[in-house]
Amino acid sequence: MRVLHISDLHLGDDPQWSYQGVRPWERLTEALIGVDPDCLGAQGLSRAPFDLVVVTGDLAHDQGESVYAKLSEQLAGLKVPVLVLPGNHDDPEGFQRIFTDSGQVSYCREYFAGGWRILCLNSQVPGQITGRLGGQQLNALEQDLQQNQDLPTLIALHHAPVEVGTPWLDVQRLEDGESFLELVERYPQVRGVVFGHVHQDFAERRQSGLRLLAAPAVSIQFEPGSAVFAVEPSPPGVRWLELCSDGSLQSEVWWLEGCE
Ligand SMILES: [Fe+2]
Repeated sequence: MRVLHISDLHLGDDPQWSYQGVRPWERLTEALIGVDPDCLGAQGLSRAPFDLVVVTGDLAHDQGESVYAKLSEQLAGLKVPVLVLPGNHDDPEGFQRIFTDSGQVSYCREYFAGGWRILCLNSQVPGQITGRLGGQQLNALEQDLQQNQDLPTLIALHHAPVEVGTPWLDVQRLEDGESFLELVERYPQVRGVVFGHVHQDFAERRQSGLRLLAAPAVSIQFEPGSAVFAVEPSPPGVRWLELCSDGSLQSEVWWLEGCE
């Protein structure tokens, strides 16, 4: 099963609104055109089309419901299931009103396809930049992981559970990242954790074999390794994943420089 992982769209209500010098709606269009099979073919990449899209948070920058309604319509045009989950910038109420747990574009806790199980978590703490899953969600996750242990599993959330090596961002990571990973690594069916928030490519393979994978942002990229806030002029980035039937996972990042 081929998964397109996108993150950090930072859309505003006004299509002309600019965020750090880019127009987020234009970047989204660029990204979606960029992953079109014809366009990828032109770039020598022929692995599309994908079977599922996962969007790991910061869909809106600071507005909610109207942005989600427009986005939902646009994502429905991809004609494959789309799973969304909230980031620190998202409006919790508006998000849940537009993205329900059913339909083509949905905010649901678990999803089964291609012999895999995908679990979507909510690391948003309203009013806070850092993320936290909290005891209740971690307990629920443990109960979930006790079920379907025969199915390879991918977990998606917004915040990074570990430091990514960019100091100003690392202080904003998942506060209970250690507890989360300690729990997840007791369940070997979990093959990967995908997240956003860091607006840069990040990939790590833990000693347990667990893969930690961030998608760059569709909107703006933060400069990797920077001690202070710094934006890097880069095209929209997405992560492509192949969830194989033998339970292995392959992944790479695509920078979508435009389609000739
Ligand atoms: Fe973001």
